[in-house]
Amino acid sequence: ESASKTVQELITSGKELPERYIYKGSDAGSIDASLPLMDIPIIDIGLLTSPSFSSTQELEKLRSALSFWGCFQAINYHGIEPEFLDKMGEVGKQFFDFPPETKHKYSRKDVSTEGYGSDIIIAEEQTLDWTDRLFLTTSPKDQRQLKFWPEIPESFRETLHEYTTELEKLNEILLKAMAMCLNLEENCFLDMYGEKENATMIARFNFYPPCPRPDLVIGIKPHADASAFTYLLQDKQVEGLQFLKDNQWYRVPLNPEALVINAGDYAEIMSNGIFKSPVHRAVTNSERERMSLAVFCVPNPDREIEPVNGVVNEARPRLYKKVKDYARSYFEYYQRGRRPIEAAII
Ligand code: SIN
Ligand code: FE2
Repeated sequence: ESASKTVQELITSGKELPERYIYKGSDAGSIDASLPLMDIPIIDIGLLTSPSFSSTQELEKLRSALSFWGCFQAINYHGIEPEFLDKMGEVGKQFFDFPPETKHKYSRKDVSTEGYGSDIIIAEEQTLDWTDRLFLTTSPKDQRQLKFWPEIPESFRETLHEYTTELEKLNEILLKAMAMCLNLEENCFLDMYGEKENATMIARFNFYPPCPRPDLVIGIKPHADASAFTYLLQDKQVEGLQFLKDNQWYRVPLNPEALVINAGDYAEIMSNGIFKSPVHRAVTNSERERMSLAVFCVPNPDREIEPVNGVVNEARPRLYKKVKDYARSYFEYYQRGRRPIEAAII
């Protein structure tokens, strides 16, 4: 399957749109619709961690954002200053600008999801996403497969290393804040998630070339993430990400100053459903290419994850079973338009 053409190669070949890119999901009618802009909350990470009254207010904002939308925009964290977000985005874009031969040095091999390539094909009837990806495990460090890490542009590896190191720290801050905003013991989520050194972190660069039929083709199918939190660096200039809330799709507004953070299924399970792992998708456009970088923070596969003490009570009975290595079957669910969390519901 790794021999299949990337979307970038497909458009330069000038061939007709292959049938298998035509999206037939139940939301297909709205991918080209004019949709409302989301009023996505902005959380000041600096305030969140300051020992003052403003932190109480910011924690309340976080609680509300994670339980209503399941996502927010983060600003004011020293490791993700706007200049650094720019740099990370630029370096990613530059990789996709290299000619196919150069990029194919980092191509995915059949057995793994690691590396560069188009949508992974697991079933003949599957609709393909209009996106090329570069998928890299960044943590634990001894699981990095450097042969897939581009050396072009020259600063790629170093920038990704630095970026993900900052996000690891931010992820700990958020796991703590998640407890504090519910008045729970500060480390209750963090202890279940485990130390950052052992946790899994995956970076996925998504490159969406301009698409001849944005009304028929989707960038990435609706899904929720099998992470605790996902850190989404958005394209500075081109919109595409959308979140679903109460059967309505909302466009995420551009904000080059902020990082979009969404809760994943692990946050939903650990919080016993208080926090939502939101369904989202990305649409294409016919004019401009778009790049995003999603970094997934996932507990180590040997961790047992379940609702923590303090979120299960008479008013809120336990909703989820204990799960382990939950992300394993993720792709199969994803390609069938199902959510793996269904299997965790009691
Ligand atoms: C994703 O869900 O990983 C992709 C989101 C995006 O392209 O903004
Ligand atoms: Fe996602």
